[in-house]
Parts: sequence; C-alpha cells; structure tokens
Amino acid sequence: MTEPALKVEHLTKDFGHGRGIFDVNFEIKPGEVFGFLGPNGAGKTTTIRHIMGFTKPGQGSASVLGMDCTTQYSEIMKHVGYLPGEIALPEGVSGWEFIRSMQKMRGVKDDRYLNSLLEMFDLDPQGNTKRMSLGTKRKLAVVTAFLADPEILILDEPTSGLDPAMQDKFIQFMVSEKRRNKTILLSSHIFPEVEATCDRIAIIKDGKIVSQVDANKLQHKEQKTFELFFANRKDLESASLGIGGRMGDHSLTVQVDSQDLSTFFNFQLRDRNVIRLVEHKFNLEKYFLDFYRTDKVFKTL
Ligand SMILES: Nc1ncnc2c1ncn2[C@@H]1O[C@H](COP(=O)(O)OP(=O)(O)OP(=O)(O)O)[C@@H](O)[C@H]1O
Ligand SMILES: [Mg+2]
Repeated sequence: MTEPALKVEHLTKDFGHGRGIFDVNFEIKPGEVFGFLGPNGAGKTTTIRHIMGFTKPGQGSASVLGMDCTTQYSEIMKHVGYLPGEIALPEGVSGWEFIRSMQKMRGVKDDRYLNSLLEMFDLDPQGNTKRMSLGTKRKLAVVTAFLADPEILILDEPTSGLDPAMQDKFIQFMVSEKRRNKTILLSSHIFPEVEATCDRIAIIKDGKIVSQVDANKLQHKEQKTFELFFANRKDLESASLGIGGRMGDHSLTVQVDSQDLSTFFNFQLRDRNVIRLVEHKFNLEKYFLDFYRTDKVFKTL
C-alpha cells in the first residue's frame, strides 16, 4: 500500500465551550484531491493550522509524507504550498520584491514555473502591495505560495472573495495541478470548485467529521430517483401498493437501481396510467446542504 501524502489521526483540540476539533481522522493519497467542507466555525481552519504545524494538538497527530507536523514542520514546508484563508502580505514592498524574497526563501533557482503562474493568473506584480486591489493581492498570494511548485497544496477557502472570472481561473489552476499529480487539500464552501476538482470529500461539523464520500460515486450514483404522476388518485394508490416508493398528495417517488431500469419501465410501469415522469438528478450541493442544516451523522457511500 502506498503511504498517504497526508494523514490526520485522532486530532483533537478542545478550545472549551464545545469549540474546537474532536477526534478528526482522514488520509489523503498521493495525487488525490480531497475536499474539506463544513459550515462556518466547523473546524476546517483549525485542522489545517495543525497540519501546517502552527498549533500543537491536544491529542492525536497530523503527518505529511510520513513526517510529524508538530516536530518536523520545517522539513514538511519544503514540500507544501499553503494558501491561508486570510491573506496578510507585507506592506511597503513591491510585488516583485515580495516574489524575489519568497523565491530566495524557497530556494527557487529559475523563473519558469513563476512565469507560468504570472501568465495563468494574469498578474503584473509591479507596484506596492499597499496600493494593490484585493484581487491583485490574492493573485500575488497565490503566485508566491506556489512558485516553488510544491507537490502538496493546502488551500483554505482559496476562492472566497474572488470575482467569478478569478474563481474560474483558480479552478483551472487546481485542475491543471491535479493533472500534474499534485496532492491537494481544499477547504471550501463553493460547490462548483469542489465538483470540478475533488476525488473525495469529508464534511466536518461542530469539530467532528460527519461524512466521508467518494465524489465520483456521488456523481454517478447507481440509483435513480423518479417522481411519477398519475391520471387519478386510484391509479396513484394502486401503483404505490404495486411498486412501493414514497406516496405524496399527487405523485409517487421511487428509487430504481440503474441495472433494473428496463424491468421498471417494461413491467412495473405497464398499464399504470402514468401521465408524467420527472427524474430528480443527484445534486452535490443539495446533498451537502442537508448536512449543513440537519444533524445527519455518519453517512458513507
Ligand atoms: N485560537 C482559538 N481559541 C479559541 N477558539 C478558537 C480558536 N480558533 C478557533 N476557535 C474556535 O474553533 C471553532 C472552529 O473554528 P475554525 O476557524 O476552525 O472554523 P472554520 O471551519 O475554518 O470556519 P470558517 O468557514 O468560518 O472559516 C470555532 O468555534 C472557533 O471560534
Ligand atoms: Mg476557516
């Protein structure tokens, strides 16, 4: 078995009053894009800050490439690019000065990857950081976080506060990094970017992981949901008795395995007077909002 690129085991940090993270466990394989979702205050940033070695765990541990995040963070930093949720750039320096100092710190010898990032994000790093717009500051933070072309990217809500065009650019960047076999931890509230990039998704709520799902399985779910409308109440009731499902006032909602579709249409629906049929397609956003709102626990697909 390949060693995980990133591993979080029984990670716990209790801030008191029910706040913090509690027994958080997950693993990210090399080359995998892992989505980390959860409502505000759920514990995403706290978990990430432990992985970055900024905070010591109360219990449990986090490791990157087999190295412990608390004791070996300086070695780990050579392999990780980190984009924090709240960006603080040094003031009073030009974009170029900041880029050059980061290159030096990271031991980057040539500009090839830097140039591709500047082009991808359409960034001109002239001028003082103090006078840059929020979008330009974000772009500069992105470029400086990744100019060493790290193999692991840790992104804490990377597109919040960006305009739609920039969000798109960032999604393209993540997709291209994924193709280059990077390992990515993406904390996010934005479903299109999660859908476009993630292989696996964990949901954290009140400091605990409440669900871990395979994104591909979710999107190509083997079960289809149909809502059937009938000519009259009698037909609806008799169909409900015959084929089961959930009966509403005017319709019957049924779930059918993909492999049983032809039996369902050719036999179960024969002579049933269906006047309208609607397929309810699976929707990632709806699935997750369920977790945000209710106390649904431990669902795996
Ligand atoms: N240093 C700290 N001291 C005390 N409480 C803290 C500290 N850091 C975070 N918390 C609390 O821990 C909980 C988790 O916060 P965290 O910032 O990890 O959430 P988050 O999932 O990143 O939320 P958001 O989506 O708003 O960024 C919150 O209740 C927060 O108030
Ligand atoms: Mg956060």
